[in-house]
Parts: sequence; structure tokens; C-alpha cells
Amino acid sequence: MSNSSTSKKILLQVSGSIAAFKSIALASGLIKAGFEVEVVMTPSAREFIGPASFEGITGRKVHGDTFEAGQMMAHINLERWADLILLYPATANQLAQLSQGFGADLVSTLFLAHEFKKPYWIAPAMNQAMWTHPVVRDNANKLQRLGVQILDPGAGRMACGEEGAGRLIEPEDMLERIQIHFEAERRARQPLALTYARKLNILITAGGTQEPIDPVRSITNVSTGRTGFTLAKSLEEAGHDVTLVQSESSQFQDGLRRVLNYTTTESMARLLEDELSRRSYDLVIHSAAVSDFRVEEVSKTKISSKEGITLRLIPNPKLVARLKDWSRNKNLKVISFKLTSGADHLEILEQLSKYDSDWIIHNELADVGPDKHTGVVFAKGDEKYQPVDFFKNKTDLSAKVRGLVQNIAERSNDLTT
Ligand SMILES: Cc1cc2nc3c(=O)[nH]c(=O)nc-3n(C[C@H](O)[C@H](O)[C@H](O)COP(=O)(O)O)c2cc1C
Repeated sequence: MSNSSTSKKILLQVSGSIAAFKSIALASGLIKAGFEVEVVMTPSAREFIGPASFEGITGRKVHGDTFEAGQMMAHINLERWADLILLYPATANQLAQLSQGFGADLVSTLFLAHEFKKPYWIAPAMNQAMWTHPVVRDNANKLQRLGVQILDPGAGRMACGEEGAGRLIEPEDMLERIQIHFEAERRARQPLALTYARKLNILITAGGTQEPIDPVRSITNVSTGRTGFTLAKSLEEAGHDVTLVQSESSQFQDGLRRVLNYTTTESMARLLEDELSRRSYDLVIHSAAVSDFRVEEVSKTKISSKEGITLRLIPNPKLVARLKDWSRNKNLKVISFKLTSGADHLEILEQLSKYDSDWIIHNELADVGPDKHTGVVFAKGDEKYQPVDFFKNKTDLSAKVRGLVQNIAERSNDLTT
């Protein structure tokens, strides 16, 4: 990987887990890769490892005392200094402190000075019973909703001898994630037209489906099609061939070279099958809000308004599950979107496991509104989806998607069949 770390500043915070020793290897890897590193240790972390190793590796004094003479403003200054703040490893206690807004030590006080303008990553490490404890789950979910990125621990044999999820991400994997993050950030800042390595043929779905009740009425949803349209415009400007499959009723249609319209889920399915089997696409970005249900018996005549009616809704097929089957290019990549309402982290992973996508962009309903739009990018790992990135608003989301597209463009040789 190219070194995009030049002068990037990492605030490495270490709390009192048995896995704290791994933070020494991480600090060492970061320094070797060219990052600047400042270390904060909780008092408990010092029970496991000493500050001397960090001082030797970073060449800087280790922080830990909120009231240290000459360092009284460390809780603000370190936060402002950093490009990325990482709690590695994070104890159950720190998840509680941070989610409840305590300022009991330097780590939690620093978090209270965090303005959510830069990434704050938390890598938990704990016994599997602690990690699945409802209180810990609530705290982790709350932090994630606030805009903190929780880096899921791995599963396996733990220091206590038990098996399960809670193992700290290994230092080399952590380092790689940090490097990927800054590399994606660097690319997102480059002029659009210069960013693609190979022109991709991209199909983007956008807008909401309409499910007819009778010839004049339908059931639809609140999707406007703006996100898909914005992505289509930016990727077309970057030089890719883009086809936007847009809801007929959407106002976001103009200015693109190729727009195809759909109304119902069935018409979108036909259109997608036809497109994907006829033309060789490299990537589908499936951002359309496809109705989960349709009316079982659509009336051929306008239903009288004199009386109430009962509609029976039946499930629609999941189009996202069919895209790769329909595709003429068997190397098709898929980025899909998933909105959940009130789901916790484990439920989200369970729901995502039903998708056949390479990346899933996840939003929780509570995090989406006129003035906010935060969410998490999941990538398909060997067994399940893993959170790999976080976005803090719509502009950031567009930048992340462009980063993924760039990644696909660079990795694909001529995949066109
Ligand atoms: C041997 C030992 C290992 C521990 N390992 C962990 C751990 O991996 N994760 C965790 O959340 N707590 C662990 N704890 C408990 C924390 O050290 C304890 O809750 C402490 O108060 C955390 O302080 P801090 O969050 O301020 O660093 C361990 C305790 C001991 C004695």
C-alpha cells in the first residue's frame, strides 16, 4: 500500500484490557508507516503495560493525567491536534463512560471535547459475555449513533480461555484500516476527472417504487431519488459511463446522458434483468427504495371512495439478490443500501447477511433527517459483513462511494465479458 500517512496525526488512547499490549505493536507500526502518534493511557491501562515502551517508540511523553502541570489543556489540544482518534483497546468501562458523557479521566474528557468533524474509532476488547451484555450493547449502539465508529472485535479463543466475540482487532489489521482510511480521504480530495483508473460501466437505481392499488392509486415511499441522482452525476463527471434507473415520478432526472424509468417493483425488475443481461456492467449501485410489499389483487377499475377497503399486501421479491444472476458480467460488483429502524448492531449484521452485495451502506432511521445523515459502510468479509468506514453527512457519503468506485476501477483489469 502506498504511504498516504505523511504527517497524519493519530491520537492513540489505551484503556485497561488484557489486550493492551497490542497497542504497543500498533504504535510501532504507525510510527514506521510515517504517522505522528500521541498516546493517552488510562490509569488501568498502566496496570497492564508501562508508558516507557510508548515513549521509546513515539519519542513523546505519554498523557494520562487530566490535571498534569503544564498540560492542563491537553483534553482540548490533543483532540484538536489529531486527524484520527482511536481507542485501542476499548474496555466495557470506557464504552460506558463515553456513552454516558462522564469526564472521569483524560480519555472520557477528551471525548467530551470531540466535535464529530473527524473520525473517532473505538476498537473494543473484552470477554464474550461482556461484549454481548445488553448494557454494553446499548452503550456501543449509542456511541455508533452519535457518529463514533465501533470496529467490531473478532471471534476466537480469548485470554480467559473462553471462545466467542470480543478479541481485539490485530495491530496489523488496525494499521491497514487506518492507512486505507487516509488513502480514501486523499483520493476523495482529488479532482474528480483525474480519479478513475479505468472507465467503468455503472448502473445506479434511485427513487421509490409505486405499487398500484387500482388504475389511479398506488402505495409508495418517501424516497426522492436525490442520493442516486447525485452519485450518478458525480460518477458521470468523473468520466464513467452511467445509467440511472430512476423512478418515473422523481424530479431528479435531468442532465444525465442515460436515464431509464420504472414505476412498479415488477417494472424495475424487468428493466434491470434486461439491462444487466444485455450490457456488460461493472457495478450496480442499488439505492432505490424498493417496496417490500405489493397489493395482492390490483383492482382493474377505480375503487369507490364510499366505503373503507382492506388491502392484502404480499412480499415482493428481493431484487438485490438477483442482480448478479441477471448480470452478463459475472464479476459484477454491487453496492446496496440498507435502512433499518431501531435495530441494534447484531440485528443489523443478521439482516445484512441476507444480501449478496460487495458493500452495504447502512443508515439507521434515527440518524437520517433534513439536517443529519450519518451511517456505516459495510464490506463483505469471508463470513459476514464488517463495518469498514463511517460517513458523517451526504457529501461525505458521496466521497466514500467515489472511493469505493475508484477502488473497483483500480482493481479491475478488463473484466468485460
Ligand atoms: C486481568 C484483567 C483483564 C481485564 N481485561 C479486560 C478486557 O479485556 N476488557 C475490559 O473491558 N475490561 C477488562 N478488565 C477490567 C478493566 O480493567 C476494568 O473495568 C477497569 O476499570 C477499566 O478501566 P479503564 O476503562 O479506565 O481503562 C480486566 C481486568 C483485569 C484484572
